[in-house]
Order: sequence, then structure tokens, then C-alpha cells
Amino acid sequence: MQTSHLSVHFADRSALEDVDLQFLAGETTSLVGPNGAGKSTLLKCLAGMLPPTHGAVMLDDRVVDRPNPRVAYVPQRSEVDWKFPINVLDVALMGRSLRSSRVWPVPERDERAGLAALAEVGMHWHAKVQIGALSGGQQQRVFIARALLQQPEVFLLDEPFTGVDAPTQSLVVKILDDLRAAGKTIVFATHDLAMAERSSNICVLLNRRVVAAGPPADVMTVSNLHATFGGAAVSPAMAGARS
Ligand SMILES: Nc1ncnc2c1ncn2[C@@H]1O[C@H](COP(=O)(O)OP(=O)(O)OP(=O)(O)O)[C@@H](O)[C@H]1O
Ligand SMILES: [Mg+2]
Repeated sequence: MQTSHLSVHFADRSALEDVDLQFLAGETTSLVGPNGAGKSTLLKCLAGMLPPTHGAVMLDDRVVDRPNPRVAYVPQRSEVDWKFPINVLDVALMGRSLRSSRVWPVPERDERAGLAALAEVGMHWHAKVQIGALSGGQQQRVFIARALLQQPEVFLLDEPFTGVDAPTQSLVVKILDDLRAAGKTIVFATHDLAMAERSSNICVLLNRRVVAAGPPADVMTVSNLHATFGGAAVSPAMAGARS
């Protein structure tokens, strides 16, 4: 999957400018940048949910201009309406709705697959619970089950490590590692430089434009982090950064 001269403008504000990136099978890419850097905007374009103002997203040789079963998207927690009256199993089963024309009733084998996906993230006991009644980490797990059930080639995750406890973080890391080993393409957004370094093999430093992209150890230099986050914000994060 790749972007070509991708730009997104909202009214008079530019969220992304001329982004050229490539996301390969068997690679995990972290998108790292400050609030408002355009990380979520980029993921939504990759998911086919947001049309670019200029440029394009391509999957193989095709333009991505709508959600595609080959691409799964796990939203940032703050972007989900948690009051929506739907239970955990039905959220997971949304993962199959892009592939299946039959929405209702849910065939039994799909329900079994949904429960199996929930079991992978330790949430099968909560299948009939309203999604809004879960904790943040549990909700995150259910959205990951939804993505697994979709059986996509590309996984897009918006801040999967934010606001979750250590066991959930470890579970997500393990799932992403296994998916990468299975040859999937993974892209996640994060503020956490340590997590980017540990869990991605390509790091994109983003602040409306791509500041740098490459192996985390190469791109996380003091000057690149300054250019991405600005001077004041960098210091605590720079403990592991190279000069
Ligand atoms: N639907 C929208 N309408 C208007 N402006 C928007 C919209 N979505 C995003 N923006 C703006 O685009 C810019 C990038 O937002 P985006 O959500 O992509 O940033 P982000 O890097 O994900 O930030 P955060 O770390 O806070 O999640 C911001 O200035 C934001 O206000
Ligand atoms: Mg965001």
C-alpha cells in the first residue's frame, strides 16, 4: 500500500502535505508526531474513509477511495461513539460485514468465528455486554478482534497503546508481532517513542509533512525529533535519541 503526493486540507487548514509513503507486507510502520500532526488523518485516508484533497492512496495498482475488506482499521478511542447500543459480539462481527452481503441474521459459523476472534483477545466472556460498559482497554481489544475477523492484508491502528494497561499493551504487541510474522502490513499511530522503537521496524516522523522515515534507530535523531515535536516537547522523550 502506498500514498502518492497525499495532501488533506480542512477549510483553510492543511492537515497533511505531500505525503509519499510506502507500506510493505511483513513490515510494521509507526506514525509518530504531536497532537494535530495528521496521524489519524493519514490512517483514515489509508482506510478509504477520507478523500484526499490532492494525491492518492494506492493498494497494489488500484486507487483506494472507499473502505476495502483488505484493509482493517482500529479507530482512536476518542473517535468512537461508545453510547451506541451494540454488544461486544456484534462489534466484532462488523469485521465480516465488509466481506459478506448477508448482514442479518448472522450465520452460525460467523458467530462462532466472532467468538473465536474475541477469545484471541480474551473478550469472549463479554460477548453480550454493551460495548460502552467496557473499560478502555477492553474496548480496544474488541476493536482488534473486529479487525482480526476481517482477515485483511493491512492493519491500521490509531493509538492502540494509549490508555491501556500493561497486560493489554503486551497482548497488542504480541498480536502485531504475530501478524507481521505472518506477512501482514501494519501501520499504527503513537505518541510513544519507546513503543515505536520496540514495535515497528519503520518509523515515520510526521508533522503535517513527513520529517523522516526509516528504521527507528536511524530516524529518531535529536534534530529530527526537534523538527517533529518542537524544542520544548522533545527533552523527556529524547532519553534514547541519538544526536
Ligand atoms: N473533520 C475535520 N474537520 C476539520 N479539521 C480536522 C478534521 N479532522 C482533523 N482535523 C484537523 O486536522 C489536523 C490533524 O488532525 P489529526 O486528528 O489527524 O491529528 P493527530 O496527529 O491524529 O492528533 P492526535 O495526536 O491529537 O490524535 C488537526 O489540526 C485537526 O484539527
Ligand atoms: Mg489522532
